[in-house]
Amino acid sequence: MNNFTYHNPVKVVFGLGTLKQAGEEAAKLGKRAFVVSYGDASVTGTLANLKGLLDAAGVASQEFLEVVPNPPIEMVARGVDAAKAFGADLVIGVGGGSAMDAAKAIAAGVLYTHGDLWNMVYASHSNVTAQPPEKALPLLLIPTLPATGSEMNMCSVVSSTTRGQKSYIWADCLFAKTAILDPELTYSLPPFQTACGAIDAISHVLEIYINGQDESDLLHAWQLALMRTIVENLPKALANPQDAHARTELMWCATCGLNGWASPGDAWTPMHQVGHVLTSRHGINHGSSLAIVMPAWMTYHKALKPARYAQFAVKAMGICPHGKTDAELADAGIAAFRDFIKASGVPVTLGEKGVAEADIPGIIEGVRTVSFNADGVLASNPPVTAEALAEILKLAL
Ligand code: NZQ
Ligand code: ZN
Repeated sequence: MNNFTYHNPVKVVFGLGTLKQAGEEAAKLGKRAFVVSYGDASVTGTLANLKGLLDAAGVASQEFLEVVPNPPIEMVARGVDAAKAFGADLVIGVGGGSAMDAAKAIAAGVLYTHGDLWNMVYASHSNVTAQPPEKALPLLLIPTLPATGSEMNMCSVVSSTTRGQKSYIWADCLFAKTAILDPELTYSLPPFQTACGAIDAISHVLEIYINGQDESDLLHAWQLALMRTIVENLPKALANPQDAHARTELMWCATCGLNGWASPGDAWTPMHQVGHVLTSRHGINHGSSLAIVMPAWMTYHKALKPARYAQFAVKAMGICPHGKTDAELADAGIAAFRDFIKASGVPVTLGEKGVAEADIPGIIEGVRTVSFNADGVLASNPPVTAEALAEILKLAL
């Protein structure tokens, strides 16, 4: 097992109906709450309930409903101005990763003193010039889409429309003080968002399982259990959006997938680095971008770690191991995973999103600019060269 330092200070309030605790939890953190969410109707009911709870708890609030997926830094800047004008002393993010990440960036942006907000972002791994924020207003996060784990981590992923880039802010001050995880808030999710969220949550764990350290019994068992639980519960949530058990399992799995418990001692997320470029260059939403990258990535790398891929097949995808070699199991596991993604209604190929072979050099250039390290490769175990990435992307066509 690799050495690691683990720190996660987020207080989690979890369970059906826990939104009702939002007023009292907010009141412990501030008196003037800046509420960051989407402008569309998807979470309007939750926002109305939250407003009532904040009023009852004596917390003044102002809504900022400009969040769109892959939150642009330009929108974050408008939020910072509005939060300052309101005199916010607390930021509440309500929604999926985009809303929570926007809330985090705004909470940090209000107190940021290093100029352009894009300076907060690790936008070039080979020449790290980022100046991450050191302070942020207290954060209360209320996820409505189980996917990113943002509610319990120190990451905020933002985009720049002018630069055509997407990358992350990573700072201790981005940990929420409190996260309220109420699975009832996810009942309204459309099937596509439910599936994309579950696939994203799998990807956070799979990234580390297949690209991380080689020897860690408990870690691999935990990763496999998380992936299996999602694989079993996504179809239930798709069949019945109000399945409390399935929604509850999916929500906690998503949080546990990226709160550090599934990745102690491992830091690389190479498939995400590729996925982010598929989003910034081709407009593919986050969950779909991973759904496309993962099977191709696994097909390319399976021969390097046959036993690991065989375990994935048996313990995550439920393949019967009898009479099969590790190599056969690896193939069966990848095929089952691809079928699972397809059955949930999410694309598994670049072609389905209109991306062709001629686009591959541009995608690689995008990954190189933001994510290749000083050695000119994408950090992974083993590291991935531009040539290897080209082969992987061809497998994804
Ligand atoms: O726009 P509307 O119609 O309101 O639909 C919203 C939203 O646009 C809908 N939605 C959310 N909750 C809903 C709901 N619809 C009905 N009922 C509800 N309860 O979902 C749409 C997509 O939301 P978004 O927040 O974009 O989704 P997601 O949670 O997948 O977040 C993706 C963003 O998070 C980043 C991604 O890169 C992307 O920008 N990530 C953040 C990470 C982190 N902070 O640690 C890690 C992840 O790997 C990821 O990179
Ligand atoms: Zn992700």
